Amino acid sequence: MTKGASGRETVLKGKPVSASRSEMTEIVLPAQTNPLGKLLGGQVMHLVDMVAAMAAHRHSNSYVVTASVDYIDFRNPVNLGEIVNLKSQVNRVFRTSMEVGVEVYSENAMTEERKHTTSAYVTFVAIDEFTRLPKPVAPLIVKTAEERQRFEEAAKRRKVRLLLRYGKRHIVS
Ligand SMILES: CC(C)(COP(=O)(O)OP(=O)(O)OC[C@H]1O[C@@H](n2cnc3c(N)ncnc32)[C@H](O)[C@@H]1OP(=O)(O)O)[C@@H](O)C(=O)NCCC(=O)NCCS
Repeated sequence: MTKGASGRETVLKGKPVSASRSEMTEIVLPAQTNPLGKLLGGQVMHLVDMVAAMAAHRHSNSYVVTASVDYIDFRNPVNLGEIVNLKSQVNRVFRTSMEVGVEVYSENAMTEERKHTTSAYVTFVAIDEFTRLPKPVAPLIVKTAEERQRFEEAAKRRKVRLLLRYGKRHIVS
């Protein structure tokens, strides 16, 4: 239940994970690489933030801000000239916040080799366009076993990130 601009209470209709799924594709150019010809970590983080924000924006139909990035893992480098594919989806909705999972793959178009290079979890908060305060988000409808697993695991990660942000005094489920 949430209050709209009219002040009337409305029930937010659930949305499936598929409604948030987002993708971005880039090619790695020299300005984005280190002296070894590898895509800069900061550049990967920027792309992760962008594709994750798209999923949160699509799910919530709201402006969103990044609240935290609690896990980012660089498994393999992305080389100069390779294609980077980023995929994101909302894993779980809490009240005003959403956890988004991101996976990054590199693709060498010469050899067709694809590698999983990076995983990340990013939390966004939906912001009311008038009050600029956090606003409730539609529930997430999980359908597949994989979506359910991500949903369950997101709750465990939230406990850790809120513990880091607020300490023991603010543990919520
Ligand atoms: C994120 C932000 C909106 C939270 O505001 P706040 O005053 O702490 O608001 P609340 O306490 O009401 O929390 C709002 C939501 O954020 C969540 N939250 C706050 N800090 C968090 C963190 N570190 N990790 C995950 N979620 C967090 C809360 O759990 C709550 O979610 P819920 O409603 O689903 O339970 C505020 O800290 C902010 O504006 N930060 C700057 C954001 C920014 O500039 N990002 C970069 C540019 S987009």
